[in-house]
Amino acid sequence: MEFLDKYVLPQSAHHMVLLKYLMALALLIFIPYVGLLIGSLTFSLFFKNKSEKNNNTAHYKFSKFLIDLVTFNKVSAFGLGLVPLLSIAFSVAQLLHLSNAPAAGYIILSSIVYIAAIIFVYTYKYSFHMRDILGAVTENENIKEEIKEESSFYLSRTNKLLRKSGVFGLSLLLASVYLFAGSLNFTTRPELWNSGNYFVHIIFSLQTLAGFLQIILFSLGFTAAFIIYKSYSSDAVKSDEKYFDFIKNFGLRTGLVISIILPLFIIISIMVKSNQALSYNLFAYTLLALFVVMFISVLFYLMIRDAQIRYASSLVYLFVLAVFFIVMQEYSSLDTATKKQFALLAANYDEYKSALEEEYGLKKVVINGADIYNGKCIACHQFDKKLVGPPYNETLPKYEGKKEELVKFILNPVKVNPDYPAMPNQGLKPAEAEAVADYLLSTYKK
Ligand code: HEC
Repeated sequence: MEFLDKYVLPQSAHHMVLLKYLMALALLIFIPYVGLLIGSLTFSLFFKNKSEKNNNTAHYKFSKFLIDLVTFNKVSAFGLGLVPLLSIAFSVAQLLHLSNAPAAGYIILSSIVYIAAIIFVYTYKYSFHMRDILGAVTENENIKEEIKEESSFYLSRTNKLLRKSGVFGLSLLLASVYLFAGSLNFTTRPELWNSGNYFVHIIFSLQTLAGFLQIILFSLGFTAAFIIYKSYSSDAVKSDEKYFDFIKNFGLRTGLVISIILPLFIIISIMVKSNQALSYNLFAYTLLALFVVMFISVLFYLMIRDAQIRYASSLVYLFVLAVFFIVMQEYSSLDTATKKQFALLAANYDEYKSALEEEYGLKKVVINGADIYNGKCIACHQFDKKLVGPPYNETLPKYEGKKEELVKFILNPVKVNPDYPAMPNQGLKPAEAEAVADYLLSTYKK
């Protein structure tokens, strides 16, 4: 993906730090949003399948509730999913500029897969609603027979579409996240940047798998907490006590199980990290993430024990906090692993900057008289010895206090002493002639 290089501006060290902050912020939006999308779609598909087998209306209703949970409007899929993803791709392109690592290209690829996934997710949602409407039409006795027939034809079509779009949507979403986790992880492994075989390193890697599973588990746990919180604040759900109990039970138990497993995966993903990414900060953030997740499981446990859900909203916040620490882990791995790369980019920036300054004539040229003497005059002149030209100690006293005349002579030598040949013009610029005159006049006496 070399075309990305064209959009890369050389960055000063300060800008690169800013880019890393930007990346962390984008991750902080992207991971919770995509987590909810994955979690709700997974649970929705799970309960839809169950309801088809056991004809359980609560399962069916819950499945529909789940898919409506995060697909409230399409702008969110764009703003909370695609935009952060592309800004991460852009930042990575900048940060890994001049290295051979194609990580940014793979993130772009993952955002294309993400867009396809979103189309299927919304198809799933709409066909879910469509099917209910068509179902109601076919069962309504006041409606004409031919319309009913048509409806039942489209009902079976919609059912097929529903099944396919849900499965496709989830598969593509998982593929996109897997690719994303792999590319991000790749940025923290400079030892692979020049290895070639990038696809293999990104896809078949223990690190990618660990990072991916960590995101998936987080997604399911976060969704469980979000479900409890949402159902708690929805009057429609609360009015049906049996249904409400069912949701509560599902959310709490799933949340508890996942918050117990999640720490294991947080630890695994640190254990498989590249040596080049390890730092004390990384361990500190890991400990904090573990601490928050354990606290979450305690809250889940307490709510199950007391059969009530008073901590529902705290749980959502705590999950966001856990994501924050997980993102900071990623940030500090990147920070540590790219130290050398940053030094390289900063040097490149200095070069770029001085070239730019020269181009616009902003560069202050420091002219050194001694350098000019050593470079141009020394072949014919010494201070105390006669060479091709006369020794300076003899000729300079007459220029004492008359620098202007000396400069004039250097710029345009004229014949002076018949014992010597004429001095050839040295082709100096006025500023250079002045600098060397200053140097000579202040040096010859010593
Ligand atoms: C190729 C040899 C050569 C080089 C190089 C050269 N000079 Fe000279 N220079 C001479 C000669 C020969 C004279 C004597 C000319 C004369 O007396 O007419 C001279 C004379 C001078 C004098 C004395 C002028 C006077 O009024 O008596 C000065 C001052 C001087 N050079 C400065 C410089 C400086 C400064 C440079 C370097 C930028 C330089 N020269 C490089 C050959 C050289």
